[in-house]
Amino acid sequence: EQIKKGSYDHFMQKEIHEQPHSLTTTMRGRLKDGEVLLGGLKEHLKTIRRCRRVVFIGCGTSYNAALAARPFVEELTGIPVTMEVASDLLDRQGPIYREDTAVFVSQSGETADTLLALDYALENGALCVGITNTVGSTLSRKTHCGVHINAGCEIGVASTKAYTSQIVAMAMMALAIGSDQISTQARRNDIISGLTGLPSCVSEVLKLDVEMKELASSLIDSESLLVFGRGFNYATALEGALKVKEVALMHSEGMLAGEMKHGPLALVDENLPIIVIATRDACFSKQQSVIQQLLSRKGRLIVMCSKGDASAVCSNGSCRVIEVPGVADCLQPVINIIPLQLLAYHLTVLRGFDVDQPRNLAKSVTTQ
Ligand code: G6P
Repeated sequence: EQIKKGSYDHFMQKEIHEQPHSLTTTMRGRLKDGEVLLGGLKEHLKTIRRCRRVVFIGCGTSYNAALAARPFVEELTGIPVTMEVASDLLDRQGPIYREDTAVFVSQSGETADTLLALDYALENGALCVGITNTVGSTLSRKTHCGVHINAGCEIGVASTKAYTSQIVAMAMMALAIGSDQISTQARRNDIISGLTGLPSCVSEVLKLDVEMKELASSLIDSESLLVFGRGFNYATALEGALKVKEVALMHSEGMLAGEMKHGPLALVDENLPIIVIATRDACFSKQQSVIQQLLSRKGRLIVMCSKGDASAVCSNGSCRVIEVPGVADCLQPVINIIPLQLLAYHLTVLRGFDVDQPRNLAKSVTTQ
């Protein structure tokens, strides 16, 4: 086991630091001459382009990856996207139509709820697409078509490298579906060059490791942690909070910053740590005003911003700032989650909990 971990203490740590490589393998052979080639989808692209909606279905981190993909899938394809937690779709027996494209996201390809939702979507006649890390899994066998994320084996119960590879696989899927649209050609080119540069940006953001360890030591005794995001980074807030709660065993909630005034603001005081994700995109000025509102209530803020933006997000120096490299706005979630993965990892080690086998959790939940 020590050999497999190499120089790392834990699999989660190894898998976090492996991401420049895992993202490279996710994209290998699939981006050529400004085009995206996804062999597993090729025959079905025409049907997907004609569908009435895309329904993303998953659990846990895989659901969050789909949520991160939702804005760019809508933007690049023009197809409405709805989100379904697999168990909730089953509980409601929610409507799925023949004209739907149901996209199932699962690292293992064996999660019971996701597979039951797949059976349900197949019965209802939807085109079923699988996004999985596991070749030969039940998900990859039962879906009509799909994309393997090729992130390599993930051992830590808390998913890290699979999350970023899932987002990149879905970005390539969105580019492939939208490739017949002339009006979005320039945007697609930007995203493709963003994808090409992504592994080196990930290497850069991983240099925040020591800074995240310091941040973790300042949060070690906190009872709770909130994470506010919006737009492309709503999913980052949910996923960052999920990492902290599942491995560091600290109560943590990811929240839509646009909903702050409708409840969460009541929690703000000088003790509760709040991470605000405020990297550059169309929502930046809204996040600046969220920060102002939190500061005026004496909130204890940690702000994640784009490099060079420290004074734009916090002019009086009263927040702790995490500066991350900027990439194409829709790919920014791949960068922004990494400091939060590092934070969750260090918090877990400092709090003395089991990193790779968190209490009560399993890597693959194969029962309902
Ligand atoms: C479990 C794991 C999570 C994972 C979720 C979905 O809860 O602990 O890390 O995100 O299952 O798993 P899947 O294999 O379907 O992505």
